[in-house]
Amino acid sequence: MSAKPPKDLCIRPCEDRDFSGVTNLEIDGIHEPYRSAVFVRQQAVLSPQTFLVATKDEKIVGFSVATVVNDNPRRAWILRMMVGDGFRHCGIGTALLREICRVLAGRGITEIYLTVSPKNEPAVRLYTREGFTKESLVPAYFGEGEDRFVMKRTC
Ligand SMILES: CC(C)(COP(=O)(O)OP(=O)(O)OC[C@H]1O[C@@H](n2cnc3c(N)ncnc32)[C@H](O)[C@@H]1OP(=O)(O)O)[C@@H](O)C(=O)NCCC(=O)NCCS
Repeated sequence: MSAKPPKDLCIRPCEDRDFSGVTNLEIDGIHEPYRSAVFVRQQAVLSPQTFLVATKDEKIVGFSVATVVNDNPRRAWILRMMVGDGFRHCGIGTALLREICRVLAGRGITEIYLTVSPKNEPAVRLYTREGFTKESLVPAYFGEGEDRFVMKRTC
C-alpha cells in the first residue's frame, strides 16, 4: 500500500499555540505526563525549525522532532515521531517523516539517525521503507529490556 497523506492534512513548523496539543499526544504516547511536557517545551526552544506538527482541522494529530548534533552540523537525530492513535495508517507518519528529512537536508544535514525498539514493527517498517538502514542493535539503550536499533539514512 503506498502511503498517501489525507488531502486535508497540513504539516507545518510547530508554534507556541501547539503546546497543549503536542503535549497531549506526547502524554498519550509515553504515559509520563511531567517528563513529556518538559520534553515538548525544551524541544520547542532548542529545535524550533525541526519540530514539525501535523494538523487536521486545527487539531494536532502528529508531530516529529529532530535536532542537529552540536559538534557535527551535518548530522541530525530524529528524537520523536508520533501520530495520534485514531489517525494512524493513513499516511501521516510517512508524510511527517518525509517532511522532517526534507527540512533537515535543506539545512545541510547529510546523516539522519534515530533509534527504534525492535518490537515496534510499524515504526521499523516505516523507517526501512523510507530509506533508513539498521546500523546496530544496542542492548538496554533505555534500560533493562529496552533494546533499540540505531537506524541511519543519508541525504
Ligand atoms: C510509527 C508511526 C509514527 C507510524 O505512523 P502512521 O501515520 O500510522 O504511518 P503511515 O500511515 O504513514 O504508515 C503506516 C502503515 O499504514 C499504511 N497506510 C498508509 N496510508 C494508508 C491508507 N491510506 N490506507 C491504508 N493503509 C495505509 C502504510 O503503508 C503503512 O503500512 P505498513 O505498516 O504495513 O508498512 C505510528 O504508528 C506511531 O505514532 N506509533 C507510536 C509512536 C512510535 O512508535 N513512534 C516511533 C518511535 S521510534
